[in-house]
Amino acid sequence: MTRLNWGMIGGGEGSQIGPAHRLGAQADGNFVLAAGALDHDADKGRDYAQRLGVAADRAYGDWREMLAGERAREDRVDLVTVATPNSTHFEITKAFLEGGFNVLCEKPMTMSVEEGEEIVKIAAKSGKICAVNYCYSAYPMVREMREMVRTGQVGKIRLVVSNFSHGHHGDATDADNPRVRWRYDPAMAGVSGQFADCGIHALHMASFIAGDQVRSLSADFASTIPSRELEDDAMVNFRLEGGTVGRLWTSSVAIGRQHGFEIQVFGETGGMRWASEQPNQVYYTPVGGRTQIMEKGENGLSSEAERMTRVGIAHPEGFPLAVANIYVDLAAGIRGDVRDGLPTAEDGVRSMAAVHQAVASAKANGEWVDARPPMYR
Ligand code: NAI
Repeated sequence: MTRLNWGMIGGGEGSQIGPAHRLGAQADGNFVLAAGALDHDADKGRDYAQRLGVAADRAYGDWREMLAGERAREDRVDLVTVATPNSTHFEITKAFLEGGFNVLCEKPMTMSVEEGEEIVKIAAKSGKICAVNYCYSAYPMVREMREMVRTGQVGKIRLVVSNFSHGHHGDATDADNPRVRWRYDPAMAGVSGQFADCGIHALHMASFIAGDQVRSLSADFASTIPSRELEDDAMVNFRLEGGTVGRLWTSSVAIGRQHGFEIQVFGETGGMRWASEQPNQVYYTPVGGRTQIMEKGENGLSSEAERMTRVGIAHPEGFPLAVANIYVDLAAGIRGDVRDGLPTAEDGVRSMAAVHQAVASAKANGEWVDARPPMYR
């Protein structure tokens, strides 16, 4: 197998998500880090890239330099990961797609719905992959839940309840910390704080497992720390196209909750529950029956769950391995074997429409609004 050349923008030294991408991309030998513009500080970025093994002429000072440099090469990168702050995703993703590169963009894919629709169209026109890193969907037991829904094992889905609520911005005395403050500043974060940051993971997963798209929503937003312009807590009711009822709570002030991402799916003949803090188990209860704990790696799971399982039964399966699963499917796609389940630009723009419509709904006292991007109505 020939290794694919991989480039990274953002994810510099000390960044939060950079290490997960480096572990994820390189875990299986599919990708080798060949180029990068890793930091907003050009010198730091060049230096760090070289310490990670990137050749000096491919350790770039900024993404425009990288685009020009890579376009001119025969061995140009096969995939570019965009792991910079949100407001830069659109212009970087657009430029690399138009330059003929496959892209994995961090979430939220864009700041506006219009930008999101443009990315979907550019990706379609370019024939390149544009994936979005909804990495939690690549956990083996999340895939198992999706397969159980697909194969009718819990019947028609009546209700999906998803939470992504943590307490890490709950300390009002820390609200001015620059690493925290920007997330609630519209100039840096866009129209939404917590819903666009964490809520869209929960919304994507509800759609992903139920196998249906969000049609409408009603939102209640609150800035529980009053100095925050954007919401730090949101309750969003939604409906999927097929009528499934959705409930979503996302918060960053839920002190005592740690990662706080969990989902429950209730069908006509059974219910299931999964939580990111215990990602190896799904709790499954058939109607009228006892609750069973299904374990990653056990016999009898779907081939999709098996495909995503890296570490044998009883051993922990970590978050970077879910990111690694995203890269496995990207490598397969670049090599011409498109795999089911890779979150794409369509998922990215659907999230942006939900964010913008949730903001509109919250401002209109929770009025129900159409949550779909215009292009999918
Ligand atoms: P961070 O602030 O920890 O790191 C950002 C990095 O990007 C830094 O190294 C910075 O120097 C670099 N950077 C900034 N502007 C740049 C530019 N113009 N060119 C090149 N490098 C630049 O941010 P964090 O938390 O790593 O987040 C980055 C992105 O990843 C965000 O969009 C965030 O929403 C997303 N994210 C996604 C997660 C997931 O579960 N999928 C989890 C955490 C973050």
